[in-house]
Amino acid sequence: MSGAFPVKCTVKCTVNGAAQELQGHPMERLLDSLRDTGLTGTKEGCGEGECGACTILMDGEPVNSCLVPLAQAEGAELCTVEGLPARAGRKVSEDRAALHPVQACFVSEGGAQCGICTPGMLVAATALLERNAEPTDAEVREALAGNLCRCTGYMKIVNSVMAAAREMRAGGNRAAPPEAGR
Ligand code: FES
Ligand code: FES
Repeated sequence: MSGAFPVKCTVKCTVNGAAQELQGHPMERLLDSLRDTGLTGTKEGCGEGECGACTILMDGEPVNSCLVPLAQAEGAELCTVEGLPARAGRKVSEDRAALHPVQACFVSEGGAQCGICTPGMLVAATALLERNAEPTDAEVREALAGNLCRCTGYMKIVNSVMAAAREMRAGGNRAAPPEAGR
């Protein structure tokens, strides 16, 4: 089917709450398209859909952006790790209070380990807490089953997500999609 796709396309979508036009080959990986816009928080681990480092939210669902062709993002609402604070109604800044509760708890509970796996973990955990405000330990582990850490254990990561769930329930800070969201 060579020649079936144009060399370049323009994909209109929403990225972290803002209208965006992503340009590239239709089969280019969404991971690359997003990183090319400067959103380098989304990482490449395996590049084969196995590790979860490249996890983003696509219409509220976690997806491996290394497996999503750019053309598939037409009309989609995308959220990268950079967009998480806004998803919880926070402004992006260096201030801990401006972090998404999941991010803040990864810091306070020691769940933030290396820079490769952490962004994907944060995004997957946020997706879980948006649909389940009070997950069990097992549900957290299941939600993060597609996010691999190659170098240490998962206990602090799970504890971080459980702490974020408690913080969000206690503080009325339940993460909600941006107004333009789902
Ligand atoms: S880089 Fe996408 S799943 Fe590993
Ligand atoms: S792969 Fe990131 S801490 Fe292990």
